[in-house]
Amino acid sequence: MEVNKLGDLQTLVSLSKRRGFVFQSSEVYGGLNSCWDYGPLGVAMKLNVKKAWWKAMTRRRDIEGLDAAILMHPTVWKASGHIDNFTDPLVDCKKCKSRFRADHLDPSKPVCLNCGSEELTDPRSFNLMFKTHMGPVEDEGAVVYLRPETAQGIFVNFENVMTSMRKKLPFGIAQIGKSFRNEITPGNFVFRTREFEQMEMQYFVKPGEDDSYFDQWKETRWNFYLSLGIDPDNLRFHPHGPDELAHYAKAAEDVQYKFPMGWQELEGVHNRTDFDLSQHQKFSGKKLEYFDEVAKEKFVPYVIETAVGCDRLFLTLLCDAYREEVSVDDKGKEDKRIVLGLHPSIAPVKAAILPLSKKPELQEPASKLFADLSDDLDIQYDESQSIGKRYRRQDEIGTPLCITYDFDSLEDKQVTIRHRDSMKQDRVAIDQVKNYINDSFKNYGE
Ligand code: GAP
Repeated sequence: MEVNKLGDLQTLVSLSKRRGFVFQSSEVYGGLNSCWDYGPLGVAMKLNVKKAWWKAMTRRRDIEGLDAAILMHPTVWKASGHIDNFTDPLVDCKKCKSRFRADHLDPSKPVCLNCGSEELTDPRSFNLMFKTHMGPVEDEGAVVYLRPETAQGIFVNFENVMTSMRKKLPFGIAQIGKSFRNEITPGNFVFRTREFEQMEMQYFVKPGEDDSYFDQWKETRWNFYLSLGIDPDNLRFHPHGPDELAHYAKAAEDVQYKFPMGWQELEGVHNRTDFDLSQHQKFSGKKLEYFDEVAKEKFVPYVIETAVGCDRLFLTLLCDAYREEVSVDDKGKEDKRIVLGLHPSIAPVKAAILPLSKKPELQEPASKLFADLSDDLDIQYDESQSIGKRYRRQDEIGTPLCITYDFDSLEDKQVTIRHRDSMKQDRVAIDQVKNYINDSFKNYGE
């Protein structure tokens, strides 16, 4: 048997649409460029991605959660540097009018990426923040921005969380939420969009201890990706050189993933120093300090940040999970099985109940099993088409287990459970199905 991994993103775009993961936004109107809607399976899987991250981040004693508003006081963005610095260099092609980021062009011979023309405008700064107005009057005084990162909501709540939760350093604040960037060149499906979700954690530490926490968080985040079953050969760290570092950062390393379009950033781990808290202290006039009771000293904490896009991790998991198993039978006939080998914690459907026939004597007990299991798990019920076709459909959406209720089940009170990856089948007593599922998920990958 030959196993092929994902060759191009278009294969995933098609599967996502066909199986209800992701649809083009406003499709009936011809779509809106680079905006995507998560369908029934997509929303379930995305929730699982968030749950996995939230669990890893907040089920520990030193990290608290937060859900800050998207709209913030406009001075936040002056203090953070976004109004002055959150820009990309934009160039236009004078011939075909395409627009590009100047840093995406070959510096030794910049030519239009669309038509190849050398007639390009000089780069000009383009601010990536979306502007809108608050209230009924659209004047300059009413300007507010859609946040371009969730991090600032955490910095301005540093004092609130520390005091209300009685935190001592080191401690972190974790948040999941939408961010907006008017990207010049969005694309590659949900990889780069203008509206996306971020999962960010800011870890506040004593200055001087920042380098060691930076290394610790790099390792913790790497292990998180392995725990989701991502192939380590498709992951690497990319340290930022001095010319790549953001204006606030002392050190930064990206976790990169080998996407079909090449190695690209999945997550950023940054040492933001005391930049943000100091800036908010300066612009707000409020103290954002920590008092170390042992050393009897006050200081502005340093921040180690881990920041990953939820949509980008969703895409990473789909890319990594996709495989085509191609086999040829004795008569030379080729068969292709498409499988999403998703980790059970991420798979949108955990198990499918497949009654062998639509006859009421099977429908009734199979429906009862569906109802029993649905209390705890995302379960699908499917009785249309042949059992073989139904298995393949579940393989393609990454369902780890298929449970077949057949005519023997009526007598022996057992069902057949088929595993997605090995296609191994077990006969299991109906009253043991829950335990069987739990055990097989617990031992997944061993
Ligand atoms: N607070 C730091 C920060 O926002 P970033 O590297 O600009 O850092 C963090 O963004 C992560 O957010 C990225 O690694 C990526 O996963 C995701 N992200 C950023 N821009 C995105 C976009 N336009 N579309 C989808 N995800 C994006």
